[in-house]
Amino acid sequence: QEDVFKKLVSHCKEYGFVFPSSEIYDGLGAVYDYGQMGVELKNNLKKYWWDSMTLLNDNVVGIDSAIFMHPTIWKASGHVDAFNDPLIDNKDSKKRYRADVLIEDYLAKLDEKIDKEVAKAAKRFGESFDEAQFRATNPRVLENQAKRDEVHARFAKDLNDANFEDLRDLIIECEIVCPISGTRNWTDVRQFNLMFSTEMGSTADGAMKVYLRPETAQGIFVNFLNVQKTGRMKIPFGIAQIGKAFRNEIVARQFIFRMREFEQMEMQFFVRPGEELDWFAKWKQARLNWHKALGLGDQKYRYHDHDKLAHYANAATDIEFEMPFGFKEVEGIHSRTDFDLSQHEKFSGKKMQYFDPELNKSYTPYVIETSIGVDRLFLSVLAGSYCEETLENGETRVVLKLPAQVAPVKLAVMPLVKKDGLPEKANEIINDLKFDFRCQYDEKDSIGKRYRRQDAIGTPFCITVDHDTLNDNCVTIRFRDTMLQERVPISKLHDIISEKVNM
Ligand code: GAP
Repeated sequence: QEDVFKKLVSHCKEYGFVFPSSEIYDGLGAVYDYGQMGVELKNNLKKYWWDSMTLLNDNVVGIDSAIFMHPTIWKASGHVDAFNDPLIDNKDSKKRYRADVLIEDYLAKLDEKIDKEVAKAAKRFGESFDEAQFRATNPRVLENQAKRDEVHARFAKDLNDANFEDLRDLIIECEIVCPISGTRNWTDVRQFNLMFSTEMGSTADGAMKVYLRPETAQGIFVNFLNVQKTGRMKIPFGIAQIGKAFRNEIVARQFIFRMREFEQMEMQFFVRPGEELDWFAKWKQARLNWHKALGLGDQKYRYHDHDKLAHYANAATDIEFEMPFGFKEVEGIHSRTDFDLSQHEKFSGKKMQYFDPELNKSYTPYVIETSIGVDRLFLSVLAGSYCEETLENGETRVVLKLPAQVAPVKLAVMPLVKKDGLPEKANEIINDLKFDFRCQYDEKDSIGKRYRRQDAIGTPFCITVDHDTLNDNCVTIRFRDTMLQERVPISKLHDIISEKVNM
């Protein structure tokens, strides 16, 4: 699986999906650029989300708020005081780590040890092997399990109580070694705020410290009444937004999964107090259905309900996707109560209430939030589409079985040869279709090689123009996933393609 992930990362580079940022200067940690194919796929994913939110729900409207916001917003939201990660340095290697990630890695290693023990026994005893009984009685499994439970419990308590002294002790007691230098020489754990800051205005006027937003949601909260009043919105209603967010992540791993500059698609749904849990359940289901509609396979998704809730939430769940490195969070659905609006009312001194004409009273609405990272969605779609297939002739083909609606290029048109009027005919077809579908013209190399190139970027249809086309106005259409080919009239192409690619 790790291997598949490596291949996927190099595939992204090779075919113009994702490049490391500032590559000629050796890159910039956890920052990436989207290439000519990546930007198309990303835009299509954003459109798929935006349309499903704002077209399918007549009570959801969009906004586009600024990245810079008044610094008090981040005081009110809690980010200035509490948007922290616990940091620890290794004194010998001078490398910095997230203390919680070191413990999580350690717990994962214990799990791995247990699983290895089980797998070994299963192999030895074959069908007669009773896994549950083995786990309950084998001394080595029991010992590792007890250790795991103990460390896990202490770890959860340390994070909950923000007791970082004990977190450091735990790292030392577990004899966690520095992954780089192998030593165990750790500093104290410190809190590190994840927000990037900069200065606005010249220093002569007194510059103001401002932050790059770590989430888009606050832009929605502070505009809640602007939208409600100017759009004459009645509760329940939602506000959706797509935009960049920035976090100074300490541990930057797993390609575009955890980035320092990334994009979010968030929707805040404002409801009557007391009705929030019903709406939470509805959005939880609606969001999972949306993911599944992409067609990557229902079994690749699962919920992860949170037992431990942030102080402002009364329910929270993640939608996880099976990445090549395990099930990982792609989207969060949170019932955030009236926390954010109340905080903004307190810090700004402005009323953030809604007058409900049906109830004939004013109240601070409760909020259900759906929050998805565009880049994580992008990674999930690529990981779910990437296939290596062995063909009948023994060759392998790498194909991205992307959902046709989001594929960067919808069709490639190829003249069989570069002469006899075939290129002209191919271009005629493109000129007819290019206003509705992104097309590529390709005349280089054999048809087989051209198919492979299109497979690698996920193009659902290849159209070949041959000598007969000039007489019968028919072309060969080849389908990416089945590789089947069919002879069809040029006049039918628009309908065949539309049926698959229109959302
Ligand atoms: N407004 C709520 C909020 O921001 P979050 O769980 O911190 O909640 C929501 O983030 C989503 O944003 C995550 O599920 C993930 O998809 C994405 N995300 C968060 N941090 C990210 C990062 N460093 N890189 C890429 N995506 C990230």
